[in-house]
Amino acid sequence: MKKAVAKAALDYIEPGTVVGVGTGSTANHFIDFLATMKGKIEGTVASSVASAERLKKHGIQVYDLNAVGELSVYVDGADESSHHLHLIKGGGGALTREKIVAAASKTFVCIADESKLVDVLGKFPLPVEVIPMARSYVGRELVKLGGRPELRDGFVTDNGNVILDVHNLQILNPVELEQKLNNIVGVVTNGLFARRPADVLLLGTPAGVKTLK
Ligand code: 5RP
Repeated sequence: MKKAVAKAALDYIEPGTVVGVGTGSTANHFIDFLATMKGKIEGTVASSVASAERLKKHGIQVYDLNAVGELSVYVDGADESSHHLHLIKGGGGALTREKIVAAASKTFVCIADESKLVDVLGKFPLPVEVIPMARSYVGRELVKLGGRPELRDGFVTDNGNVILDVHNLQILNPVELEQKLNNIVGVVTNGLFARRPADVLLLGTPAGVKTLK
């Protein structure tokens, strides 16, 4: 199902443009499919070092985001999606760069298997990227909000920070919570993609790829 949605995302690629590329196993399938049409695109911007390396292995040009203008499309997976296409992302720890590339893109195409579609976000622990010296302080603030933060052991992000995975959140107002969490000093960003949700969700089901908008 992950492969099927990754392939379906090729339909959203505009020839001659720079494509934003996400991170994770579904995004990896997308990278492999993108390689089949690498001659038709200008290049890519990657949301992680891992994705940049996979793209380069395929001989696909990877640009620094600062070297290009607005991206036509960003294709990435998710850990959870609501029916409003609000997402939880960051299971792979790349949430900050993912959020930056999503923000810089005209269209965000999310690719996921149907297990990721939920009625209420929050069963998947919400990743929060934190400046290392603020880890304990941010943890206490997250507890005040009703969460149970857990340090992702031994993990350092591409930006040199740590991740707190926050359990026990029932996220009824993702737009508000996203902003609230980003206002905690020491938080770099959090894995809620609600203020800039996906524009299209390609959902893999046993019956084929469903498109939600
Ligand atoms: C990485 C992400 C991924 O998109 C998310 O974890 C989904 O991964 P997968 O495609 O492997 O299920 O946000 O930071």
